[in-house]
Amino acid sequence: MSDHETHPSSCLTDLSGRRLSYLRISLTDRCNLRCDYCYHSVNESQIAERELSDDEVIRLVRVFSKMGFDKIRFTGGELLLRDRVVDLIRETAVTAGVSLIGITTNGLLLEKHLPGLIDAGLNRLNVSLDTLDREKFKRITGVDGLDRVTSVISRALETNVFPRVKINTLVMRGVNDDEIDKLADWGLSRRTDLRFIEFMPTRGSGWEESRFVSQDEMIERVRGPLDIDPVIEPNSGPALTFKQRGRPGRVSFISAVSRSFCNECNRLRVTSRGTVVGCLFSGKEIRIRELLDPRVDDETIIAVIKTLTRSQDFRRGIENRTRTWEGPSMRGIGG
Ligand code: GTP
Ligand code: 5AD
Ligand code: SF4
Repeated sequence: MSDHETHPSSCLTDLSGRRLSYLRISLTDRCNLRCDYCYHSVNESQIAERELSDDEVIRLVRVFSKMGFDKIRFTGGELLLRDRVVDLIRETAVTAGVSLIGITTNGLLLEKHLPGLIDAGLNRLNVSLDTLDREKFKRITGVDGLDRVTSVISRALETNVFPRVKINTLVMRGVNDDEIDKLADWGLSRRTDLRFIEFMPTRGSGWEESRFVSQDEMIERVRGPLDIDPVIEPNSGPALTFKQRGRPGRVSFISAVSRSFCNECNRLRVTSRGTVVGCLFSGKEIRIRELLDPRVDDETIIAVIKTLTRSQDFRRGIENRTRTWEGPSMRGIGG
């Protein structure tokens, strides 16, 4: 048996017996946008703490692949601010057992990196886009970048490398809820999966009931002008997906507030500070950075991680949606 082959007994499970197989690694808390629901959630002194090095990231990928993780997504902050991100993807792509390699990006720096990322083995792409209005984009993010983001999405679609480009659209009342039907129409007209995301009460997000738009309301607003039908798919993750006959795109709804998908969740998160986080709302971080020391062998790291995760129930969900969560923020965890 090769060094990288996984034994069934080496799979990672949590306290409730869920098998974990999808690792999200945040490469940085830094970001080149200033989205008001996210940016202020990380304090600058935390950012100053050393980010995981390239070697530590690759070590993580190798160790988790040995535990049966076959999907790795790099997130941030904005992960494309990391200098050697293409090399990290390349190394991940040649790691035995890893078949799905994704990034979640705001798209601003993607144009320059896209060919290199694809050549390195990237095969899943998620891009954030909350509005199709140039002025509003500027207001939300602080940057005049709408054209750059939409044109790189087109470019990515032309490559035919990604089964679909997933678009993340956070919906907030009074900000972009008036664009729901327009965004849905845009998403359905190309090979994208445009995901309307319910506003979650993460730390520093400024969440308020009055700014929250539920999945049901969003679906109703899309269904008014557009005739959409549900798509039933196994392993669709947290999203509820719809299509429209004759059109290439899809629209989905990620609704952590009004609908719990914790039982199907197979994710584990590692922050750029080298801590493991289960649920976005767990409020708990397990520090594993020291374990990534080259003097510690893979088997020892695996044994410690297994012991740590088996004693945790990572399902948490949002217990009280009116309470703003005090745990790590979205930008500090990487979504
Ligand atoms: P893929 O299925 O690999 O495309 O992953 P994804 O949809 O989770 O990836 P992405 O990074 O694009 O995440 C989109 C957004 O979905 C996140 O930023 C969160 O807003 C939300 N989300 C993703 N995973 C979870 C989760 O486990 N719990 C909750 N509550 N929200 C999540
Ligand atoms: N609730 C829901 N989604 C959020 N994001 C950031 N903060 C929140 C929040 N409080 C989303 C962004 C981005 C994705 C990576 O995370 O919209 O698209
Ligand atoms: Fe940056 Fe993404 Fe947060 Fe916006 S949502 S500030 S792009 S990390």
